[in-house]
Amino acid sequence: MSSVNVEYRNNLSIITIESPPVNALSQSVRSGLVYALEAIKINNDVEAIVLICIGRTFCAGADIREFNKTPLSPHLSEVISCIENSDVPVIAAMHGTALGGGLELAMGCHFRVASLKAYVGLPEVTLGLLPGAMGTQRLPRLIGVKNALDMMISGKPVNAKTALSLGILDQLIDDESLLDGAIAFANKLLIEGKPIRRVRDLTVDPVSVGFFDNYRKKIAVKTRGLISPEKIICSVESSIEMPFDEAVVQERDFFSECKKSSQSKALRHVFFAERAVAKIPGISAEASQRQIDEVSVIGAGTMGAGIAYSALRAGFKVILIDSERSGLQRGKESIKGLFEHDVARGRIDDAGMNEGLERLQTTQSFEAVANSDLLIEAVFENMAIKKEVFRTLDKFCRPGAILATNTSTLDIDEIAAATDRPEDVIGLHFFSPAHIMRLLEIVRGAKTADDVLLTALALSKQLQKIGVVVGNCFGFVGNRMLHGYGREAQLLLLEGAPPEKVDGVLQEWGMAMGPHAVFDLAGLDVGYKIRQERTDQPEDPLFYRIADMLSEMGRFGQKTSKGMYLYDSGSREPVPDPEVQVMISREAELLGVEQREISEQEIIERCIYALILEGSRILEEGISPRSTDIDVVWTNGYGFPRYRGGPMHYADEIGVQRVYEAICELRDRFGSLYWEVPKLLENLGTTDGKFADL
Ligand code: 3HC
Ligand code: NAI
Repeated sequence: MSSVNVEYRNNLSIITIESPPVNALSQSVRSGLVYALEAIKINNDVEAIVLICIGRTFCAGADIREFNKTPLSPHLSEVISCIENSDVPVIAAMHGTALGGGLELAMGCHFRVASLKAYVGLPEVTLGLLPGAMGTQRLPRLIGVKNALDMMISGKPVNAKTALSLGILDQLIDDESLLDGAIAFANKLLIEGKPIRRVRDLTVDPVSVGFFDNYRKKIAVKTRGLISPEKIICSVESSIEMPFDEAVVQERDFFSECKKSSQSKALRHVFFAERAVAKIPGISAEASQRQIDEVSVIGAGTMGAGIAYSALRAGFKVILIDSERSGLQRGKESIKGLFEHDVARGRIDDAGMNEGLERLQTTQSFEAVANSDLLIEAVFENMAIKKEVFRTLDKFCRPGAILATNTSTLDIDEIAAATDRPEDVIGLHFFSPAHIMRLLEIVRGAKTADDVLLTALALSKQLQKIGVVVGNCFGFVGNRMLHGYGREAQLLLLEGAPPEKVDGVLQEWGMAMGPHAVFDLAGLDVGYKIRQERTDQPEDPLFYRIADMLSEMGRFGQKTSKGMYLYDSGSREPVPDPEVQVMISREAELLGVEQREISEQEIIERCIYALILEGSRILEEGISPRSTDIDVVWTNGYGFPRYRGGPMHYADEIGVQRVYEAICELRDRFGSLYWEVPKLLENLGTTDGKFADL
């Protein structure tokens, strides 16, 4: 069957696109559309055309996989022009998510209807692009410059009701089939004799003087470092200043420029990497998911409360357990507070909040877990306590229940061995704040069953998170790599780079926050305790020296208003502290470290290459099966700029050979304690290899 089909019904023609999974506008769909329009043109009986898709959605955009290839004819803009030039009215009938080129296709139609549950949007910016099939010209004509910019700069789709009120849609199809509704709409048009409305012929409403400059200022912080938002603004400016035909030529140039940019390549890499995580190598074909309806969370502290809230928002029945009455009370209040916050933000209504709170049960008794399908332990980070909790769970849980731990450092296999069912035990490493952070490291123990892994992955989707399966080792993937990155940031202090310089340079490079500000946020005491308990720390007096000293002084970071930086009460803004600078210089002198001027390039290379080095080891040891998984962890959990694609993609982009040679130099300069080159990196670096090819 072809991906585009034409059917005739009385005086109407129905063009149906069927190109699973998301009806992306691949070359075969584009040429199929042109062919369909030509076939319809010679049929004099056709008075209107309905364009519709089969499957889960209307077209979700251009086919992103084609962007790495030479463009294939016909271009999407040509297809859209064919539609717009049609002598008979064309009605787009949308369901699911009409995105990017999909919405541009619909805007080329003369009328648009959509099912009530549809979403429409131009998310190209999330791929480092701008709408490249005349969307930057048609959307401002349809809904005005400000609304169009808001949609294109945020990349966020709007729901059908909003799209109707904005003027993108002409009608919602509520209680009948979309096709029947679209056909009825077409017949009504014909009866009323409504003229064809070509969006390109509409004029764009003028904006006030200085509008675009103000808009640029407004989005500057959010779009820091990105190329495509500025191209979107320029292109929309042209919708006012230039005739349509001229402006679309410029739009197409901007589009090719963006498509070729390393930013767009990186963002497309992350798009596919985020989808690849769901494919776990070596999973048995027979494995299927276990049913999860009721979730018990053990430990109602910072993490437990956030995890319980996420589970409630996802619709699960939740039992929250804490050994302390006060802990339970605090957890309950925190969950209520999170609901109220979301009500205030309009994300949920009062009825939704009350219904959610009704699904929450709190108790101090472990017997309550008897019917739970999933147990998530989030008690203190202490092996003896965790083992005791798992022994108790083993006693009270039903057979087949999944027992998960949220540990960030402890050995999953040792915890699993405390039970008689290690195959049901898994790590679910949430990040703080658990209800906000998208990343979920799913830690596969030596005996974790395949169906437990599959269930955890499905759960991550239900919780609206990105689950990445990782192996069991200290710190798993994210924190293990953070260890080396933070170590270099610390060493740089002793060598003469002040904390605000290290943070400033890395932030300017694209990290969401500098490493010292991150440690102040997470709590310097947390890392301190972990380092104290580890028996395999390097014999190096410089290792995390300043962080340890600050911790021993009770300067834990934001929570004590003092850490590496100072914080005014109630503020999260780090203020450099001259006392810390004096302390660093004194300590450097005591340790015999000569302070010097450190270049921005050295700061970037030492910190980022430390990440790449540890990532290479993680791949070598099989802790991550794919370099793309590491990129997903770092872009979703650690503020690594998506537009650089993650540490491993970044290495591929600048050349693994260059990274390898720089790391060899660092090893020669600083010794092999931290810069020993893994075999895998050496192989790639000396054979012109790429992490993506592994
Ligand atoms: N091109 C190629 N493949 C695509 C695609 C696209 N536009 N959109 C999704 N896919 C693929 C995914 O890679 C995935 O493949 P896989 O099964 O091999 O992993 C499959 O379709 C299903 O995708 P999801 O797993 O993401 O399915 P969901 O149901 O969770 O989400 C969606 C569906 C909301 C449509 C989501 O896939 C999405 O956001 N897609 C991208 C939308 C987009 O960015 N469109 C703009 C493209 S650029 C453009 O149109 C340029 C134009 O202006 C010229
Ligand atoms: P927390 O100290 O805020 O809360 C722990 C809760 O567990 C307390 O309410 C305590 O009363 C309860 N508890 C202790 N022993 C118990 C037992 N035997 N039975 C029932 N309840 C018990 O701790 P937090 O920060 O929420 O951490 C929990 C776990 O999550 C730890 O393993 C930690 O390493 C991990 N984690 C923490 C992150 C963070 O940023 N706080 C991030 C990721 C993981």
